[in-house]
Amino acid sequence: MDINKLLHNMTIEEKAGQLMQLAPFFFIRDLEIEVAGNVSDIGITQKKIFQSGSVLGIRNAKEMIDVQKRYLSQSRLQIPLIFMADIIHGYETIFPVPIAISSSWNPELAYQMARVSALEASSAGIHVTFSPMADLSRDPRWGRVVEGFGEDAYLSSSFVKQMVLGYQNDGIEKPGNVASCVKHFAAYGAVEAGRDYNTVDVSRLFLHQYHLTGYKAAIDAGAKMIMTAFNTVDGIPSTVNSYLLKDVLRDQWKFEGVTISDYDSLHQIVDHGCAENDKEAALLGIEAGLDIEMASSCYVNYLKELINENKVDVKRVDKAVLRILELKKELGLFENPFKGADILLEEQLVHSKEHLAIAKKAADECSVLLKNDHVLPLKEGVRVALIGPHAQSRSTNGSWSWHGKSELNSTLEESLIKQDIIPVITLSVERDDQISKEDKEILKTCDVAIIAIGEDAYESGEARSKTDLSIPRKQSSLVQLVKSLGLKSVVLLYSGRPLMLDSVLQTDALMYVWFLGSQANESISETLSGKINPSGKLTMSFPRNVGQIPIYYNYYTTGRPKEEHVQNEYVSYYLDVPNSPLFPFGYGLSYSSFDYHDLHISSDEITPEEKLSISIEVTNKSNVAGYETVQLYIRDYVSKIVRPIKELKGFKKVWFDGNTSQVIKFNLQLEDLMIIDAFGNEFFEYGKFSVMVGPNSENVISKDFRLIKESKQ
Ligand code: NOJ
Repeated sequence: MDINKLLHNMTIEEKAGQLMQLAPFFFIRDLEIEVAGNVSDIGITQKKIFQSGSVLGIRNAKEMIDVQKRYLSQSRLQIPLIFMADIIHGYETIFPVPIAISSSWNPELAYQMARVSALEASSAGIHVTFSPMADLSRDPRWGRVVEGFGEDAYLSSSFVKQMVLGYQNDGIEKPGNVASCVKHFAAYGAVEAGRDYNTVDVSRLFLHQYHLTGYKAAIDAGAKMIMTAFNTVDGIPSTVNSYLLKDVLRDQWKFEGVTISDYDSLHQIVDHGCAENDKEAALLGIEAGLDIEMASSCYVNYLKELINENKVDVKRVDKAVLRILELKKELGLFENPFKGADILLEEQLVHSKEHLAIAKKAADECSVLLKNDHVLPLKEGVRVALIGPHAQSRSTNGSWSWHGKSELNSTLEESLIKQDIIPVITLSVERDDQISKEDKEILKTCDVAIIAIGEDAYESGEARSKTDLSIPRKQSSLVQLVKSLGLKSVVLLYSGRPLMLDSVLQTDALMYVWFLGSQANESISETLSGKINPSGKLTMSFPRNVGQIPIYYNYYTTGRPKEEHVQNEYVSYYLDVPNSPLFPFGYGLSYSSFDYHDLHISSDEITPEEKLSISIEVTNKSNVAGYETVQLYIRDYVSKIVRPIKELKGFKKVWFDGNTSQVIKFNLQLEDLMIIDAFGNEFFEYGKFSVMVGPNSENVISKDFRLIKESKQ
């Protein structure tokens, strides 16, 4: 297909149509769904609908085939639609939510999740997924922390990269692969006060050092598309922000793929107060380099007028259209407009045994054990009570799992029984006062209560911001009740974000189980029984209270740092709580017990050309085999741009047999010591650094070295 020739034959209306994305029901009115918003009528004619370029949110192969057929039957130039959808952590086989996957500290699992998602989604005729979300999250009030990979740019980028590689695999032209659209460019995770869609005001320094890192990692991994964010950056809506879309994306990063707005966000710049009307919005969008507008009609209704009035150069429109045609060509849609869609294959693939097994293995590495006073794994023969709203719930898929069928998931009770853990009593209650006297008597005959509490699956996600992050609906009263009845307790916390855990800390064991997807309760039960040894570690700091937010491990010392155990009023601290989080970034226990010792570095001085080799011995002092994630941090002590007290620069998740030791090795080189300035430029400075290695960001062993100009020999 010669796309330049095709472009040449297109009318302005047809060009503008390519730049519009609509939901499937625009083409077949009796399809009722609209998954991601509330724009049902955007003021366009039937003719314009049938000139649009892509579709958002198809449900299955049959629907895709119907829509494509219908569309092509009316399309003059026979340019097929691209089908895009939000496949975030699985299509029908649902994997752990992204914040949970990141807690595995095993990016390979993200790769497998993306592979399975691509195989299933492409069989339904989906060509592009709006994933991964590379927004950095430091504020658990923001409901979308569930969709991201935590607070750290380095760790998050490792996951983002594997997601893109997993989706696109050996090329988007091949069957079974989908193109990746990274989102939400830029800094959407920094919405003020954690309120979704709110203003973002980040310095250019933090923008480049932290927030942009993830999108860049996706683009370096080959992501074909990028979605803009709902928020402003520097007072300009991201969707029309030419610093982001031109200077950074095209000029600095050399991105050649397609840009797309978020849902209705081009039109919404009128609500931002940045354009007076849709026509002005269209002008700003096309000038900034926005290619597709999702679910609004500014381009399709006004580009022609703007071109005729000489306000928009048609060449700009051509560039955008060419990028879209190029993507269609690369996907192979001109040869086969129904690419991927296969009703039979879809039936075989989705939710298949093989895919569920992969999702189960992923879930096994994501639960984070936060406390364990010798209760877990459950000893054989203990009398167990099962309490809480999640005891008999199948709702373990979490946000953005719209193809997932939670009715097919097992409940915790069913999964425990499969592990021969048969509850003496099961009470699906939220609070202590919902338990009768008689049931309390039965509870007293038990040894341990498993208390399955937390958020419900849709309490985190888009438009799910909260100011009160305490355990919802007085569920912590169950922990107090169990204690007063004299039983041991194990709290399982189902959630899509860090919650305030102070009210349940008196429990004997506490495991954060997020929303682990189709196989959640199988995985949790096997972990309780000891068949699986938990190995997840936190990727967001868990605050002591909401007032500490934003809280993250890589903070600056400030000019007046608070030193531990030193009383001095005029330092950076709180009167009421310590500065430290309740549970730090990187924290998570296991049934094994690991000891870190003998940290060695190859030299106490290196030049920019040299590498520093680091080794540490880690010993599993227990006879329980398990994984440990060894974390490497650095500190750069002196720089004209202040550096954080710690920066993650490496991690290794390693399997240890019982009572064994291994020497874990890392290398540091100049690129790990680089600093990014407010313009996105990288540089380094000579001087003193520390290497720190440990099981989490607080508990580390360190050694110093210097970066010097020339070696002494
Ligand atoms: C709005 C969300 O912000 C975005 O993440 C999603 O991809 C689009 N809607 C499309 O559903």
